[in-house]
Formats: sequence, C-alpha cells, structure tokens
Amino acid sequence: MGITIVFIDPTGKEHTVEAVAGESLMQAATAAQIPGIEASCGGNCICATCHCHIDERWFAKLRAADTLEQDTLACTNEPQPTSRLSCQVPLTDALNGMIVRVAASQH
Ligand code: FES
Repeated sequence: MGITIVFIDPTGKEHTVEAVAGESLMQAATAAQIPGIEASCGGNCICATCHCHIDERWFAKLRAADTLEQDTLACTNEPQPTSRLSCQVPLTDALNGMIVRVAASQH
C-alpha cells in the first residue's frame, strides 16, 4: 500500500504525492519534482537544500534528528521547531497523510 504525502510548496500550492515505505521524504519529493526541493547533496545531510517544515501532527512520529542533521539545520535561514531535512526522514506507513511545507529559503 502506498503512502500519501501532501507537500505545500513555497508558493502555497499543494501537491499530493504517492510514496512507498522505505524511501526518504526527499526521494518522494524529488521524484514528484516538488518545487523548492533541490537536494543538491543527494541525501548526504550536508546541503540543507531539502529543508522542510513538518506538520506538528506528524512531527512527533518521526525518528529524532541526529547530531549531524541538527548541525546542518542550524545553518539554514529559517530553522523552526518542526524543521527537518527531508533526506533524513524515512517514510513509513504511520506517516500516511503527512503534510509537509517546503521551506521558502533553501540555504
Ligand atoms: S539532500 Fe542535502 S541535506 Fe538533504
């Protein structure tokens, strides 16, 4: 069974994407060509161009960010309490329906 993720791009447009368990949130975004997700390091947790804000209802279900992810997020322009690097978020069935806002500034 697929997992549905709703991305809200920096212009406010919603994109509903079918994803599969085991891929990363970044992989689901890039496969669907979601605007604002560059993922220039290819998922190595160093570029922060896959920065998203996770809706609070799902944020608590995610595995906590490790030290490297926290350090990389701290370098972004607009880190928020629910910020994550989407390449570090593996998708599971429990995340079905998750709402993800793409950060407006990917630096
Ligand atoms: S793709 Fe570079 S930090 Fe996520």
